[in-house]
Amino acid sequence: MTPSKNKQPRPWIRPLPERLVNKIAAGEVVERPASVVKELVENALDAGADRIEIIIEKSGAKQIKIVDNGCGIVEDQIEIAFSRHATSKISEFEDLDRITSYGFRGEALPSIASVSQLRMVSRPADAEVATEIVYEGGVLHSKQPVAAPPGTTLEVSNLFFNTPARRKFLKAESTEARHVSRVAMALALGRYWIGLTYSLNGRKVFSLSPGQTLGERVSALLAPGKKFIDVSGEMGPIRVEGFVGLPDMAQKNRNSQFIFINGRSIQSSQLAHAFALGYGELLPRGNFPIGALLLTIDPTEVDVNVHPAKTEVRLSRDREIHDTLYRLIKEGLRQDGLMPTLRMPDRTPGHSDTGSERSPRDWPSHKIPGIAQRAGGNTEFLDEIYKGVSPAAEAAPGVVRVDTATGEIMETEPSTAEPPSGSATSLDSLRLIGRFDDLYLLFQAGHELLVVDQHTAHERVLYEEMLKKMDNQGGTAQQLLLPVQVEFSPEQMIVFEEAREGLIHSGFGAEPFGGCTVRIEAVPSILSRKSPEKALRTVVDDIASLRKAGFDLTKAIAQSVACRSAVMAGDRLSDREAVGLVEQLRKCKNMYSCPHGRPTFIKLTRTDLDKQFGRG
Ligand SMILES: Nc1ncnc2c1ncn2[C@@H]1O[C@H](COP(=O)(O)OP(=O)(O)OP(=O)(O)O)[C@@H](O)[C@H]1O
Ligand SMILES: [Mg+2]
Repeated sequence: MTPSKNKQPRPWIRPLPERLVNKIAAGEVVERPASVVKELVENALDAGADRIEIIIEKSGAKQIKIVDNGCGIVEDQIEIAFSRHATSKISEFEDLDRITSYGFRGEALPSIASVSQLRMVSRPADAEVATEIVYEGGVLHSKQPVAAPPGTTLEVSNLFFNTPARRKFLKAESTEARHVSRVAMALALGRYWIGLTYSLNGRKVFSLSPGQTLGERVSALLAPGKKFIDVSGEMGPIRVEGFVGLPDMAQKNRNSQFIFINGRSIQSSQLAHAFALGYGELLPRGNFPIGALLLTIDPTEVDVNVHPAKTEVRLSRDREIHDTLYRLIKEGLRQDGLMPTLRMPDRTPGHSDTGSERSPRDWPSHKIPGIAQRAGGNTEFLDEIYKGVSPAAEAAPGVVRVDTATGEIMETEPSTAEPPSGSATSLDSLRLIGRFDDLYLLFQAGHELLVVDQHTAHERVLYEEMLKKMDNQGGTAQQLLLPVQVEFSPEQMIVFEEAREGLIHSGFGAEPFGGCTVRIEAVPSILSRKSPEKALRTVVDDIASLRKAGFDLTKAIAQSVACRSAVMAGDRLSDREAVGLVEQLRKCKNMYSCPHGRPTFIKLTRTDLDKQFGRG
């Protein structure tokens, strides 16, 4: 018999009324007045407006008014715009993977309308009259033709009037005003060529004319009259337009830091980290650089569908993008003569010697022990470096030729494989002139001195090779004569199970052998000088740390194997090895940094040195 306490009315499942759904959605999309400003101005921008006015009263709690000269909405579409999931911006499933508009969810207008009193007046240029529509807490109040110029005006009054809990949560007016102002500034910077005026509580905060350059706008908004440095450039997966402040303009908070991906202002601690890192030692501790960085990335590599507010994005090549941004900023500052090259900081991600604010929590390299120092020789890596590289075979047009007798790399023709010009460094026409402390290899390239870190450079080379091999599911394996067993902790066993397939692709032959025991039959040949047991244990531990730091599994495996097999500080390379290493490095997709983001080389120019010695 069923106990009587279960005799409750049978739950009845039914869809929620649309108004309630909109109000629930508003909880996510409309956090505060600033969110309304963001959504409405983004709509105006998506509508092609090039002049937009933002008028805010009582920090947005009383009224938010946005006037645009965009395409307007035709009369019979206006109500559709206020129904949930109605959008003109995407229509197909595939569109979600290549979003180029700000909006795509089709929920901002219905959400805002459901928690405010909203009036819209809209007129496409070819319509004779405008249409006015009024909503009260999501309920249609009136709709009528009115006279108005082309474009759209939105007035959102008494936000959260029908959600008292939310209204109570609004912070002091000054706090809300700060949020609104930041949003207005971000919109003005992200679309720096648009005319934008912003008035707050009866005071005109800024009035920016259309057609400005990014430099002009950054200066107008962040520090009028001050010099900003152009760090624009194109490298690998990204194009950056950016203007950044001098180190002495840095602030104690990130309020004047603006980072955009494809025009969208985003919050990203990783990119903010790259921004600061570019300044190296020039930035006093606890300070944050100011400026605006507009990154353009192939939209198929950016997932903006992470959160309804769209201020977070997922990047499929986040490490590479971080590294590239860092390099561009550093190079931009250096070219401006700001970066005294001999003091070149290189407090790069893997250097754990500072404990400064910028030593990032999100960098896994700290957690990888033994990355830098190991004494003792190691020549096996040579086999890897020289695999398939015969100097004679290099004499093809556009490819450098290595003279192994002199250690010189001679260019035959301009290489097509070079990174874009400008801030990029060529590794062509290099001549090995020495080595320092069995860690840094010194090369002369014209009037430049290149200092190559043999460990990070080798790590980069091995990492890219390993990724390629894993992609073809064929890391070269060294079979063991006698299989060995390794006993894992339960945590390690979980990591091993998750990584097993990838480990096999990297060259490990390993399978569970009951409980937490794993039987190893083969190891990647580049790791074969380690004991198989130790090799697998170390790699599994590295993978665990890298996974925690958010790395993709394949990359984590490749990073660990590369790091563990790379030549170390203290390993003495012959001339041929040194030249071979750089030759391999220049073929890498990203020759500038190791997979952890530390530089593979730095450059000192003749002028840099002359300056240091007071030669003009
Ligand atoms: N200022 C405007 N000018 C012209 N059309 C507009 C304007 N604002 C909104 N619209 C139209 O109304 C539709 C709905 O707007 P809404 O903001 O709700 O959704 P969305 O922008 O498509 O997506 P999201 O919810 O991601 O912002 C838009 O797709 C657009 O066609
Ligand atoms: Mg929208």
